[in-house]
Amino acid sequence: MTQTTFTPRVFSGIKPSGGLTLGNYLGAIKRFVGMQGQMETIYCVVDMHAITVWQDPKELANMTREVAAGYLAAGLDPAQSILFNQSQVPAHAELAWIFNCVARVGWMNRMTQFKDKAGSNAEKVSLGLYAYPALMAADILLYHATHVPVGEDQKQHVELTRDIAAKFNHDFAADFFPLTTPVIEGPAMRIMNLRDGTKKMSKSGVSDMERINMTDDATTIAKKFKKAKTDPEPMPETIDGLATRPEARNLVEIYAALNDMTAEAVIAEYAGAGWGRFKPALADLAVEKLSPISLEMARLMDDPAEIDRILGQGAQKARGIAEPILRQTYDIVGLLRS
Ligand code: TYM
Repeated sequence: MTQTTFTPRVFSGIKPSGGLTLGNYLGAIKRFVGMQGQMETIYCVVDMHAITVWQDPKELANMTREVAAGYLAAGLDPAQSILFNQSQVPAHAELAWIFNCVARVGWMNRMTQFKDKAGSNAEKVSLGLYAYPALMAADILLYHATHVPVGEDQKQHVELTRDIAAKFNHDFAADFFPLTTPVIEGPAMRIMNLRDGTKKMSKSGVSDMERINMTDDATTIAKKFKKAKTDPEPMPETIDGLATRPEARNLVEIYAALNDMTAEAVIAEYAGAGWGRFKPALADLAVEKLSPISLEMARLMDDPAEIDRILGQGAQKARGIAEPILRQTYDIVGLLRS
């Protein structure tokens, strides 16, 4: 079946399950800002995803505000983008139920992130953690979103979203949901842990030295880069020289992404340099780019009522798009409405 052309629309989200990291900033938020103004943009704080693992209720509300503050501080503008938290738009959960009935158990069993998170404890994790990708598909398809900017770790989930859309369209003979494109491009699609270049930088890693938090002050940022694991070799002459040096490659990619350049251009500038030269340059650049954002986040967090107001207004706009699409979905499925 050839697809209807859908109006270009961006949707993406971040889970408030911990503080924002440099990985979230470079892999997601900075790119969200870049897409603002290019097409319609909808950015969500996905609090219902966060509760797939236990969250302290008071902390959850605060973390939701902190992610929203990160969006605003980095340059997302509520007049140009719809900014809201997921639980204020119940249609996400309603469409997720329909998708639970479309997605196949075999598809869910292939999700590598579930396997990583559940580990050897798969019998004890929540049913929500297993069903999570169907909720993510609902987040995206509830807005007929065509483009989803994410880091590399979310690629499989966006591909599953396409599978769910295709199966729904096929099963109900309706050309209704778009086949969404994951937008994964640029040097920072997988920022790694500063102490182990084979692991992703994440909110939940055990040591704080592994990651840069968006709330870290200048001294902490500089210290973390200074102590970041590297190897004894200087910077290579070409990018190929980084192939077997994950920690070195990571620092080069962070530099490139922060400074809007390619990793190749960073290598051209620093070929032959030792870490004693590169690390302080990276720390200075990171402080220059991140400090204004963390200061603005702190300022915004002093007025939680204002953040709540922005999220509430965004949710109202989001409901305006989501509810008609949910109603049409119910009609297609044959759920009776009186
Ligand atoms: P989450 O909250 O784990 O991460 C949010 C975004 O940040 C990106 N990211 C990274 N990018 C590069 N390097 C890293 N180390 C790094 N860590 C995180 C993620 O790829 C993501 O883009 N399931 C999603 C949230 C979600 C969503 C959605 C995203 C729910 N519904 C609909 C897009 C569309 C998640 O857990 O992301």
